[in-house]
Amino acid sequence: MQKYAVVTGSTDGIGLETCIELMKKDVYIIAVARNKEKAEIKKKEMMTQSSTDKIEFVFGNLDSTKSRDHIIKEIKKALSNKENAKIDYLVHVAGGISSYYINTPEAYEQTFAVNHLAVFHLTIELLPLMRHEKSDRILVTSSSSHYRTRIHWKDVMLKKHYLSLTAYKQSKLANVLFVREFAVRYPDTPIFAIDPGLVNTNIGFKNTKGIESFIWRHRALKGAHPKKPASEMVEIMTNPIYDTQTGLYYKHGKLKKSSHYSRNPKHAPRLWSLSEKLVYHK
Ligand SMILES: NC(=O)c1ccc[n+]([C@@H]2O[C@H](COP(=O)([O-])OP(=O)(O)OC[C@H]3O[C@@H](n4cnc5c(N)ncnc54)[C@H](OP(=O)(O)O)[C@@H]3O)[C@@H](O)[C@H]2O)c1
Repeated sequence: MQKYAVVTGSTDGIGLETCIELMKKDVYIIAVARNKEKAEIKKKEMMTQSSTDKIEFVFGNLDSTKSRDHIIKEIKKALSNKENAKIDYLVHVAGGISSYYINTPEAYEQTFAVNHLAVFHLTIELLPLMRHEKSDRILVTSSSSHYRTRIHWKDVMLKKHYLSLTAYKQSKLANVLFVREFAVRYPDTPIFAIDPGLVNTNIGFKNTKGIESFIWRHRALKGAHPKKPASEMVEIMTNPIYDTQTGLYYKHGKLKKSSHYSRNPKHAPRLWSLSEKLVYHK
């Protein structure tokens, strides 16, 4: 049976390599991208490296409810054009960090909107399109940045005191809290937070300037090739030993305890309610 994956962040770094690894396993990819020209170039690279053409793109920015609604509609359309197509793997890789405060069209802070609210929104809307079998997987790319931080409940958009790292760390903690709460609410659909470790990608060169891009230029060189986390993620997606697990945090294929803060049972449901308000204005 043909398997299908929806992958965000497909045009660069870890997401690009994840698409290639999945295509090599004959999975059909519905890739989410914001830049059509870049996607066209990357599509050729993916097809050459995987020796298949099982990929199509849907386009839109993940930063607002309206543009995500469009992306969700396009994903549904892409699936409906195929016989018996369901989502086997929902893979959230898109993410970023920004040196400066960026307001989204909804006047939210961009890092929180793209790194967390997009994961929340797409998962809720695409869940009905999944196969609802133990082999389903939802993967959320988190980070060790989620340790030693908290959710800034009184100013989650960091309007008063914005710092790039504070915003990034909070969003990666939100990823872990989301995974934990989703696992409680939907125990039959395996979901995992993935810590890819330090990876040599372009993430630190987008929306960054001065000292931050300088630091990333040196730090990234110590990082792994994005093929490494990609193959670790594909292993979790395709190996049936993970069918009976959910809500867990993995780094390099090894189970790790997520932060103390993330394991406090108060925080995950609170973030879920806040995310509902921010996305659905409930
Ligand atoms: N690199 C690391 O060391 C590291 C470590 C821990 C965790 N992570 C996490 O891994 C994930 C992938 O990071 P990466 O290093 O592979 O970064 P990357 O190379 O910059 O790739 C990020 C991807 O997300 C897409 N994206 C970003 N903002 C978007 C938006 N508003 N709408 C739609 N797509 C958007 C980018 O599109 P464009 O191609 O158009 O830019 C790109 O395809 C992130 O969630 C990051 O937090 C990375």
